[in-house]
Amino acid sequence: MGVRSTLFAVTYDRLMAKSEEQGLRELRRRLIAEAGGRVLEIGGGTGANLALYGRGVESLTVTEPEPAMVRRLERHVQERGSNATVLRAPAEDLPFEDDSFDVVVSTLVLCGVSDQQRALRQLGRVLRPGGRLLFLEHMRSEDPKQARHQDRMNWLNRLMVCCECNRPTLDSVREAGFVVDHVEREVFPGAPSFIGQAVVGSATLPAPTPSGPGAGTAVPETAAGG
Ligand SMILES: C[S@@+](CC[C@H](N)C(=O)[O-])C[C@H]1O[C@@H](n2cnc3c(N)ncnc32)[C@H](O)[C@@H]1O
Repeated sequence: MGVRSTLFAVTYDRLMAKSEEQGLRELRRRLIAEAGGRVLEIGGGTGANLALYGRGVESLTVTEPEPAMVRRLERHVQERGSNATVLRAPAEDLPFEDDSFDVVVSTLVLCGVSDQQRALRQLGRVLRPGGRLLFLEHMRSEDPKQARHQDRMNWLNRLMVCCECNRPTLDSVREAGFVVDHVEREVFPGAPSFIGQAVVGSATLPAPTPSGPGAGTAVPETAAGG
């Protein structure tokens, strides 16, 4: 994306300030409180979640593909004296062994990845069986009228926040082999209606069954590879 992605990185914290104040920060806080063990956060941006990780986190790895965001993220990690490891990588191509993490966190990222299914399969690959995906995303409305509005306004959404507002992300998560075990929908704080609701929840990657044709594989076939 070049100039656009640099501009997005430079303006991101200011762009989000109103939403953060009006409730986004609280949604982040509730979500991140669930993270523990070996944690991977994808698309970490400027590091808005860094301060929210608690004592239960054994290790924190944050990936981010855009150089201008990576610079801000690294600065933020340093300023906080955080032990987080920052790596430049897209969610579609994660440089980790299979089963490396207990939890993967995605906040406002699955709306913008280039290939959502490929990214989700990668998350499934690097999560251990039984591991959890914690997400805070905005997505296509289940109300057909609102969804059509999002389709019409997607060009503006792209221009404003460099992502798609009309992706059926929950369906994609299920399609990639996850079981969605908790979902809360909230008005997206301080955002125009076409952004859609803030959807906060968790999905689990089922452990492989002990017998049958899949026995012995680390992750279900639908969640592996990518
Ligand atoms: C709306 S920002 C969200 C940043 C941060 N997660 C947050 O909650 O504030 C979207 C982030 O996803 C990153 N991103 C874009 N394409 C990506 C990809 N293919 N894989 C991972 N992250 C990506 C962007 O560079 C940006 O930092």
